[in-house]
Amino acid sequence: MMTKLFEPYTIRNLTLKNRIAMAPMCMYSCMDEDGIAGDWHRVHYASRAVGQAGLIILEATAVQPQGRISPQDLGIWSDDHVEGLSQVTSLIRQHGAAAGIQLAHAGRKSEVDGPIQAPSAIAFSEDYKTPVEMSTEDIRETVEAFTAAARRAGSAGFDLLELHGAHGYLINEFLSPLVNHRNDKYGGSAENRYRFLREIIDGVRSVWQGPLFVRISAEDYADGGMTADQYVQMAEWMKEQGVDLIDVSSGAVVPAKIRPYPGYQVPFSETIRTGADIPTGAVGLITSGLQAEEILQNERADLILIGREMLRDAYWPYQAARELHTEIEPPVQYSRGWTF
Ligand code: FNR
Repeated sequence: MMTKLFEPYTIRNLTLKNRIAMAPMCMYSCMDEDGIAGDWHRVHYASRAVGQAGLIILEATAVQPQGRISPQDLGIWSDDHVEGLSQVTSLIRQHGAAAGIQLAHAGRKSEVDGPIQAPSAIAFSEDYKTPVEMSTEDIRETVEAFTAAARRAGSAGFDLLELHGAHGYLINEFLSPLVNHRNDKYGGSAENRYRFLREIIDGVRSVWQGPLFVRISAEDYADGGMTADQYVQMAEWMKEQGVDLIDVSSGAVVPAKIRPYPGYQVPFSETIRTGADIPTGAVGLITSGLQAEEILQNERADLILIGREMLRDAYWPYQAARELHTEIEPPVQYSRGWTF
């Protein structure tokens, strides 16, 4: 029996062989601090493709050097990054998965040396530096950096792009009224707080015709913060601009307490999927095939993103398939593992 989890899923020109995506996860493994993908990235991501995930989304990859969370982050701010990333996409695709990349800027959560930027000059917590409030010129340069990064991602052979609009990083900082205290056209109303992301999506769409996701933090878990209901309007704008799927995460915008439980972010995905009539991805403490299948069967999301469970088990899709009594094809080299 074919389950929904193992059904192919088409987004624009791309067909994934199943609905399992590896969630973007920073590896902090560019030891020369140059943002260039190396052996770790080739082995780590290719293993999950052999493990039969339909889509692998590479970790938050910085569009500007000051947009790195740490000096060991992957980068895509220069043409020098294309060669290393091309090797990763080539390996992922050789093993039957699609290759995605999360384009990111850490904003006020950057821990690199030197000044850091944010919509307003407010630190995340006392453990972080106070950022410099971005000028209109800084905003323009950053939008251009996302656009240039999207162009480079195309050259590196990626099938899909995701913009990191979640977890309290730069885009999220503009969207949330808890962090964005600006008085110009980039702050205040929802429309104004959305303007930075709007300009980035327009920039990216001018150079990239393939599938485009945006990851959001649908709930700030703090008074006066964003909620999934409020994100419905923004998701409608994203859809109008040609975003294909909202990857629905939550939190980390301000240091608020979260009490996660299995599937805790799925209700946010449902709210946005129903409210804005746009495909969504569900992520967060999804660890079993049955749990993933329930989410898809009940149309609570269109794609399942697996994070930590895929760090523990690169071959998680095989386990999920067994649980769902579905057969999936192993790579030919491993087929004897399936003979008894
Ligand atoms: C993450 N997460 C994350 N999210 C993101 O949007 N970009 C990123 O680069 C990272 N980096 C990252 C590193 C590591 C080591 C972990 C564990 C997590 C969050 C991740 O994508 C996912 O949303 C959460 O881990 C919740 O899903 P799971 O792990 O419960 O399946």
